[in-house]
Amino acid sequence: MAEIIVSSPQPYPVVIEPTALRLLPEYLGGAGQVALVYPSVLAGTAAVAQVALQDSKIRVLPLVVPEGETAKTAQVLTALWSALAKANFTRTDLVIGVGGGATTDVAGFLAASYLRGIPWIAVPTTVLGAVDASVGGKTAIDLPEGKNLVGAFHDPRAVLIDFDLLRSLPPREIRSGLAEVAKTGFIADAAILKLILDDPVSSQQVTSERFAELVTRAVQVKAATVAADPEERILATGSVGREQLNYGHTVGHAIEAYEQFRWRHGEAIAVGMVYAAELAARTTGLAPETVALHRSVLRALELPISYAAAPYAAIRDFISRDKKTRGGTPRFVLLDKPQHPIITTPTEEAMSAAYQKLRNDIL
Ligand SMILES: NC(=O)c1ccc[n+]([C@@H]2O[C@H](COP(=O)([O-])OP(=O)(O)OC[C@H]3O[C@@H](n4cnc5c(N)ncnc54)[C@H](O)[C@@H]3O)[C@@H](O)[C@H]2O)c1
Ligand SMILES: [Zn+2]
Repeated sequence: MAEIIVSSPQPYPVVIEPTALRLLPEYLGGAGQVALVYPSVLAGTAAVAQVALQDSKIRVLPLVVPEGETAKTAQVLTALWSALAKANFTRTDLVIGVGGGATTDVAGFLAASYLRGIPWIAVPTTVLGAVDASVGGKTAIDLPEGKNLVGAFHDPRAVLIDFDLLRSLPPREIRSGLAEVAKTGFIADAAILKLILDDPVSSQQVTSERFAELVTRAVQVKAATVAADPEERILATGSVGREQLNYGHTVGHAIEAYEQFRWRHGEAIAVGMVYAAELAARTTGLAPETVALHRSVLRALELPISYAAAPYAAIRDFISRDKKTRGGTPRFVLLDKPQHPIITTPTEEAMSAAYQKLRNDIL
């Protein structure tokens, strides 16, 4: 078991252990009632949460939301606000989000916005949710015009990562989440890369000790990053800050968009990280063996490391629209040496040459 404290104005624990859900009653504060937000596929998990809450005699309001990303809409949120109002939720009552990153994003934004902010607890049930979405206090919903356009920073009271809840995940979902874990290895913690390479099979087993160590280390990186830059502002001062979490995401997002979101997020950023490594080789002088390490770690996780479907012009177009682009100049998070990300502006030639390198998946 591990407990990582995220330092913020109100520090909160990320509890990582097989039966963390049972600890729910310890984090109720003075709540008289709790809203349990979850998608119907996780009804079994919600029932376990209800059992955990039984002894505390707290009133539980179940709020079933649509599956995954389809929950992150203004319509869903309006229904959730009304449900809390009808149940007379007050500022001391509590929202618990149980699900993947999409569910915890909407549950967190519900808590951030209702009565100008009530407490919430995240219970992530995907690997991505555990190592990324539930830590750091970002909450959001989507608009038809784009993802995550409406949201707020609102730290949870606690994050409970319970490995038992991850057992039902399809292998592809686990691998996709592990791409974010590998990302934290490339930008900050070399031990993560070694753990994956030493045993890629047990790395993908959510009940293994290796998996627990990978998740714990990835959460440590995310927690340290957001503590240093809680609201993504360090950028202005010239250091990398929270933007380092975007490693591999510029071209990753471009591929997701080009593929019309049929790829899992982690699959797209795996290719995006190989691209970032190839681009760094041409921009910051990143050593060839570090570029090769990107391919070997990601391939060990059975993630894609090559891509040729989109013409470069289409990808370049998406890069122009990336949120890191300023005044038309693309900015990338690249490594200049292992575990040392910097923000830099590559040349057009380097960007296009690095893209050509994605055609071959040679190690
Ligand atoms: N707030 C942040 O800082 C942050 C960071 C990264 C990503 N995100 C957001 O996270 C979302 C992606 O999260 P995700 O990858 O977890 O996707 P997701 O929440 O859409 O979950 C993926 C699918 O798995 C299902 N599922 C969840 N847990 C399961 C389980 N234990 N067993 C079986 N099926 C399960 C879900 O119902 C869904 O269909 C995006 O909306 C993204 O914007 C937020
Ligand atoms: Zn990501």
